[in-house]
Amino acid sequence: MNKTFYITTPIYYPSDKLHIGHSYTTVAADALARYKRLCGFDVMFLTGTDEHGQKIQRKAEAKGVTPQQYVDQIVSGVKDLWKLLDISYDRFIRTTDAAHEAAIQAIFQKLFDKGDIYKSEYEGWYCTPCESFWTETQLSDGKCPDCGRPVEKTREESYFFRLSEYQKKLIDLFENNPNFVQPPSRANEMLNNFLRPGLDDLCVSRTTFNWGVPVPFDPKHVVYVWIDALSNYITALGYPDETGVFARYWPADIHLVGKEIVRFHTIIWPAMLMALDLPLPKQVFGHGWLLFKDGKMSKSRGNVIDPVVLCERYGVDAIRYFLLREVPFGSDGNFSNEALIGRINADLANDLGNLVSRTSAMITRYFPDGLPDQRQAAEPDQELIDLCLQLPDLVDTALGQLQFSQALSEIWRVIGRSNKYIDETTPWILARSPELAPRLATVLFNLAETIRIVSILLQPFMTATPPRIWAALGLADARLTDWAAARTYGRYRATAPLRSEPIFPRLDLDKELTALGDLLAAPVAEAKKPEPETVPEPEEIEFGDFQKVALRVGRVLSCEKVKGSDKLLCSKIDMGGSVRQILSGIAESYKPEEMPGRLVVVVTNLKPRKIRGLMSEGMLLCATRADGSCRLLTVDEAAEPGSEIS
Ligand code: MSP
Repeated sequence: MNKTFYITTPIYYPSDKLHIGHSYTTVAADALARYKRLCGFDVMFLTGTDEHGQKIQRKAEAKGVTPQQYVDQIVSGVKDLWKLLDISYDRFIRTTDAAHEAAIQAIFQKLFDKGDIYKSEYEGWYCTPCESFWTETQLSDGKCPDCGRPVEKTREESYFFRLSEYQKKLIDLFENNPNFVQPPSRANEMLNNFLRPGLDDLCVSRTTFNWGVPVPFDPKHVVYVWIDALSNYITALGYPDETGVFARYWPADIHLVGKEIVRFHTIIWPAMLMALDLPLPKQVFGHGWLLFKDGKMSKSRGNVIDPVVLCERYGVDAIRYFLLREVPFGSDGNFSNEALIGRINADLANDLGNLVSRTSAMITRYFPDGLPDQRQAAEPDQELIDLCLQLPDLVDTALGQLQFSQALSEIWRVIGRSNKYIDETTPWILARSPELAPRLATVLFNLAETIRIVSILLQPFMTATPPRIWAALGLADARLTDWAAARTYGRYRATAPLRSEPIFPRLDLDKELTALGDLLAAPVAEAKKPEPETVPEPEEIEFGDFQKVALRVGRVLSCEKVKGSDKLLCSKIDMGGSVRQILSGIAESYKPEEMPGRLVVVVTNLKPRKIRGLMSEGMLLCATRADGSCRLLTVDEAAEPGSEIS
């Protein structure tokens, strides 16, 4: 049986559509998964979505849908995006999958039974309007970091994971396995900033929202995010069943994550696995961030890059290439439209595209019946051949360290050398003298052969381009394009007619920048428009509930503005025998002098309330218009003040 390779991406929050940053990790994981498959590994490539939590619950409420309906719709878009980007995942886990939820309960129970989880109190700061807990360090100037309002000290009953017990074991893990966390700078950061100073126990349950997996023995608690999310890497394999798929693929060979969640993956996750007596993943790789103009991408900054827009305009391979090539994996790097178009033009259209189309066109033109057997070698050939022979090892070495950009630059070095080889050998001049045909055939063979090797090695990175290159060169025999065939030089042979169409057309930089600016701005403008509020349908009530509200007709006798308020009017209302004073927030819709004489609908049994020092004894009913203004509910002139409304 083949050796296995288990690779994972983070499971993404479906709180919004995914953007180019999420695509970055997933494309990198896909390139590695494809590479390992090509090398003969039995690969398990897992991705998915992290669907519980308060944020998603709130988003769903704001849209007037259930959290499940909300995530279902986003997750379907996530799957479409991965299809578009040609992501070859083997499994897609959702934390709302029934099997995952059951497994989380089993994990929580096991940790509780072992004494690794205990009940205590979580002390923190609570922001009432946001309904959010914050720790001391999360506050910004002592205020809520989300809304800037004052917070109150509170306690909440919670379950805790004994993370502090694992400090020593984790330090040993880091010190004895320098490969566990990559790049090494991230391991040092974890050791110095978290592990050596000491670990606090971790709060692992919440009672303030309910969109989560209930704690099996105390269902008013839901399991709080990290136990639910991190466990996906084992529940996706069938855990708690430790046989079958789980036994085959666990421990993971590599968890790919963004640098901001390295701490969770290298401290909390191994501690959880130690507590569960399970083997640890072999490596966690924390890559850097793609940065955008104005820093991190966010809706409010208006710099969200939608990968769908880019793929539709430039093709999936151009985007995959750019993501893998532009920034050394591990470091932060900038994403800009200029850089993207620059790479497409320089690397794809000029270097690779021209090499393929020129070679294909020259073979077709000079040797329409195929390359003749008679050949003649010359001096510049060997350098190109040597580069081709070295290339597979260089790609292996770079990919072994997840240096996608390095691997691609090795490939492009050979592409660049081939273009130079064309300039040096000037095939169009050789073609003028029939006696130089053997030399011309050799030059074109070397070019076609180099392209064959390059196209094989491009397969992990680009998925549509290698077959197009094979078509351009008439390479229809699969044995000449399988992964191992990159290691032998001299096998090029066309068995199908050559197709000479450009692989990557050149773009007009200025025109593209304007077009792309408009395309990417469109959804932002859309997002900035206030969303039409979908008002959730209120719950059904019993007739008796409705009857509790006393409604009567009243006639406005007089009305004036409330001092110091732009919104409030104070009206005296004749209720047919008695007069009531009622304050209403209608000053922006009615002038006081428009009010007297109107027959209005009054709620008469509301508890009286003092507003701005004035007593208000009831409420006038109004309809609210889309622009926020309001219109009073009035009744037919024939109705009398005091009439009951039912
Ligand atoms: N749900 C958690 C992860 C749980 S894993 C057990 C989460 N989700 S997320 O939707 O916020 O995704 C974060 C991940 O998306 C990052 O770790 C990174 O892999 C990727 N990225 C999101 N924006 C990114 C950039 N701007 N640049 C690079 N990667 C980015 O955190």
